[in-house]
Amino acid sequence: MSYRQAVYDEPYIRDYHSGSTYRIPGTVDMDHLGIPEELRRENLNLPDVAEYDVVRHFTRLSEMNYGVDLGMYPLGSCTMKFNPKYADQIASISQFSDSHPLLPDDMVQGNLKVVYELQEALKILSDMDAVTVQPMAGAQGEFTGMLITRKYFEFRNEPQRKEIIIPDSAHGTNPASAAMAGFEVVEIPSSDEGTVDLDALKAAVSEKTAAFMITNPNTLGIFETHIEEIAKIIHGVGALLYYDGANFNAIVGKTSPGLMGFDIVHFNLHKTFATPHGGGGPGSGPVAVTSKLKDFLPVPVVRYDGGRYYLDYSLPHSIGKVVSTIGSFGVLLRAWAYINYNGADGLDENSTVAVLNTNYLRSKVEGKYFIPYRKLKKHEFVISTQNTDKRALDVAKFLLDYGMHPPTIYFPLMVKESMMIEPTESVGKSDLDRYADLLLKALDVPDSELKDLPKNTAVTRIDEVKAARDLKLRW
Ligand SMILES: Cc1ncc(COP(=O)(O)O)c(C=O)c1O
Repeated sequence: MSYRQAVYDEPYIRDYHSGSTYRIPGTVDMDHLGIPEELRRENLNLPDVAEYDVVRHFTRLSEMNYGVDLGMYPLGSCTMKFNPKYADQIASISQFSDSHPLLPDDMVQGNLKVVYELQEALKILSDMDAVTVQPMAGAQGEFTGMLITRKYFEFRNEPQRKEIIIPDSAHGTNPASAAMAGFEVVEIPSSDEGTVDLDALKAAVSEKTAAFMITNPNTLGIFETHIEEIAKIIHGVGALLYYDGANFNAIVGKTSPGLMGFDIVHFNLHKTFATPHGGGGPGSGPVAVTSKLKDFLPVPVVRYDGGRYYLDYSLPHSIGKVVSTIGSFGVLLRAWAYINYNGADGLDENSTVAVLNTNYLRSKVEGKYFIPYRKLKKHEFVISTQNTDKRALDVAKFLLDYGMHPPTIYFPLMVKESMMIEPTESVGKSDLDRYADLLLKALDVPDSELKDLPKNTAVTRIDEVKAARDLKLRW
């Protein structure tokens, strides 16, 4: 033993050489913390369990969960596609996963190269001129786009442009982002076709319009075939056209927001390019713009000078940073891997199969379920139980009981008892057939039985009204 003789006068070690005492790391000085005597414990009553008990407990818990690795997840508007394992493997390479976001550019040339190449790929896929990868979600991309819109009109000295027009089929984040950025939201109704009502749009636009925000195909899975005319109307009054890219999976490689005349686009990388929505981690909502808006993007953007990659903070009218780091690097990396692995042909084919799967499934249930608007859909379709004696909620619970994830229900709001189904490209024919069979079977189950479902799940029927009204918030 050295002269540092330790006497375990817990939680201290006394050093006989210096006479000082040191606290044993990890122990707590109760007196110092002022914890009352009656709350102190000599021993903790922790369960004494074997390793296999612990492993089995957590494995059992994980099996109560449902995810894209387990089965089909046709949650409309969310594009819950299979998360390819090569993308996860690349994202877990330690040179990537261990790099600190604030390391100097020269130490992370590989990371910057990935971001630069992703920026370039997104520019090509969207036919836009400049990209920021900073926003951490689609909604934050929308908010970034709205801030860019606001700054652009401030710069142009057009302070009267206070209105953002949004169709009634839009996702709730669209009006929320516009309002958060200080705009007034003007909602317009959809036409009998489920698309933008051109007359309503013409009546709504004015010199007060800052932008029109839409997604194409829209949340009914219908492609806005009048998009060029819409762009003309919007640009005709000097406003901007904003593309909500949540439904981009339907059109990658077929057409692009740039070709349709959009000025600002957000992507949901976690929908279109791996890392499924709801995957438990952060998302990523890069924003692309046309050249007239490029100087308003958040800083920094990643550039390449032919020799090295670097962060450029010099954009003259930048709205500033929207996140503290460069973005959701893990999600950016997965998107980069996904785009490179698939290549242009693969991305195009994925969109084709996503649309084919949707229309195959639709054709199997039409006739039994009410399908509002045009029949042929893009990546998702909306059905309704309004022609039956069933509720969408009960059909969803029935699907859960069979181990299938239900579709999105009660959205879009414009369709009563709606169920929004998006199978994506990562589903085979046998799964689609089983899903269609179950959807049809649900309609034959007596109501009295349906109301008791699900029975085979970890959590059975919950009281949704109570859950909404009697909130028990914990943190
Ligand atoms: C049509 C549409 N727009 C915007 C969003 C918002 O995207 P995020 O959930 O990434 O914030 C969603 C999300 O599902 C959506 O479906």
